[in-house]
Amino acid sequence: MDMQTITARAGNPNMENYEETYKKFNWDDVKENFSWSKTGLVNIAYEAIDKHAENPDKKNQAALIYTAPGREEKLTFEDLKRTSNQFANVLKDHDVEKGDRVFLFMPRSPEFYAAFLGILKVGAIAGPLFEAFMEQAVRDRLEDSEASMLITTPELLERVPVSELPDLEKIVLVGGDGSQHISFEKEMEKASEDFEIEWVDLEDGMLLHYTSGSTGKPKGVYHVHNAMIQHYQTGKWVLDLKEDDIYWCTADPGWVTGTSYGIFAPWLNGVTNVIRGGRFSPDDWYGTIAEHNISVWYSAPTAFRKLLSAGEEVPKKHDLSSLRHVLSVGEPLNPEVISWGLKAFNLRIHDTWWMTETGAMLICNYPAMDMRPGSMGKPFPGIEAAIVDNEGNELPANQMGNLAIKEGWPSMMRAIWKNPGKFESYFINGWYVSGDSAYQDEEGYFWFQGRLDDVINTSGERVGPFEVESKLIEHEAVAEAGVIGKPDPERGEIIKAFVTLREGYTESDELLEDIRQFVKKGLSAHAAPREIEIKDSIPKTRSGKIMRRLLKSWELGLPTGDTSTLEE
Ligand code: WTA
Repeated sequence: MDMQTITARAGNPNMENYEETYKKFNWDDVKENFSWSKTGLVNIAYEAIDKHAENPDKKNQAALIYTAPGREEKLTFEDLKRTSNQFANVLKDHDVEKGDRVFLFMPRSPEFYAAFLGILKVGAIAGPLFEAFMEQAVRDRLEDSEASMLITTPELLERVPVSELPDLEKIVLVGGDGSQHISFEKEMEKASEDFEIEWVDLEDGMLLHYTSGSTGKPKGVYHVHNAMIQHYQTGKWVLDLKEDDIYWCTADPGWVTGTSYGIFAPWLNGVTNVIRGGRFSPDDWYGTIAEHNISVWYSAPTAFRKLLSAGEEVPKKHDLSSLRHVLSVGEPLNPEVISWGLKAFNLRIHDTWWMTETGAMLICNYPAMDMRPGSMGKPFPGIEAAIVDNEGNELPANQMGNLAIKEGWPSMMRAIWKNPGKFESYFINGWYVSGDSAYQDEEGYFWFQGRLDDVINTSGERVGPFEVESKLIEHEAVAEAGVIGKPDPERGEIIKAFVTLREGYTESDELLEDIRQFVKKGLSAHAAPREIEIKDSIPKTRSGKIMRRLLKSWELGLPTGDTSTLEE
């Protein structure tokens, strides 16, 4: 098969002539789709849910189909309006105010979505956390955000160091026996179903997503209601959503994909959203598509690679004919996976590129555009993307450099929480510099090359080496640690740690496993190093910075480059 280009299929008519649409496009025209374009009063939860619940033709449509082992539930737009109103009233009763940070640390469930939307309805800022986080990861995020309320479950509460978090005033427990803290069920039962939404400014905050960089603790990426403009429009033209679609985004809302595209984009477009709880298994995943007649499916390379390796017999057991459009995000989408998709579903898998900081998709493949496997596609209309040098000068076609976006798109982060210096450091000469390296070919397609910093991408999850190193040296046997991403065919990268041991400790399999478990229990399973190697010393610069690049070169057997700053 010729993998040079895969020709366009049917898609949104506006995107059939990409160049022309790109030229004509104006974000201001998108605003016409929202009621606030006239009043100036906004709330993203209103646009996503209540607007449809107040429309007689839509209110009884399923908004959320929840499916998990042992639990199936269907909520209409009207149901979700009601449950989120109730939770908004619970928040009001407990004095939550506009701008307060309310965090969610719980698995995906109908309660999660009612609570999340309720938080937005009172004008507070939602902070969703992965349920896989362990104590240190939870503490860092609650501490930095100064969250005043946490919604969690009795099991997960054990990982929250409540007494050491002075700002955390209240805890709502979902599924407890009601004897401890605020009971979600009891409060919801008595809460009114009517709520007067807190109307906010487009630039008011709605969401904090913590993400990892190469230095320091995870940082709070701050998003505002204005992002809805881009969630809505990319939902229409990239996800290609139509009102009768049944859509499934596999991402957890602890990750920006699970909010921007697991909550906002589908509901702003009035589409039925399938949420699957429980663990990954090829049979269950294909089964979800077949059972719910999924038509649009947004997932990640790491999941596609697992499905691929499960073999060709598994998909044949399921009727996947409802699928119309498949998309991917989070890591490079291998051409091999695209070939597999053509065979397994007779569909192209469309790569999309964006980041937690960008809030929504920026560079994408569109159904009505020819695709070059291996390329992330072309900028969304209204987005100016370029390859720039370190001074922010644009580079010509085919030259590798920093992938950068002209500042000012609707869903761009508005701050790094309590860290203006970090926020400023992303921008050079009017460009947001992503930290990814890429090049653009003569026809305008962008090609991802790698990360320019030390951030690790393991199974699509961003892991900061500093966080893992910090945890490692808390272990009684570890003196120093350096952490890198090592290429891996299934996971993209795995975490490899180099450590030196303290006096009195000697290497053994038990010790290495103990260190691994220590990181796993302290941070999270995905941050635990799959490989640990004991060294006599860790290479550092004279100013004491761990030279991860050198560790990586050693690991991969590559030339070590400039080592002039290496400490003796
Ligand atoms: C990587 C939020 C290659 C990239 C969605 C980026 C990708 C980082 C792609 C953001 C893609 C994301 N191809 N790499 N299509 N999409 N990345 O914030 O390095 O968790 O900078 O993702 O993931 O990670 P984040």
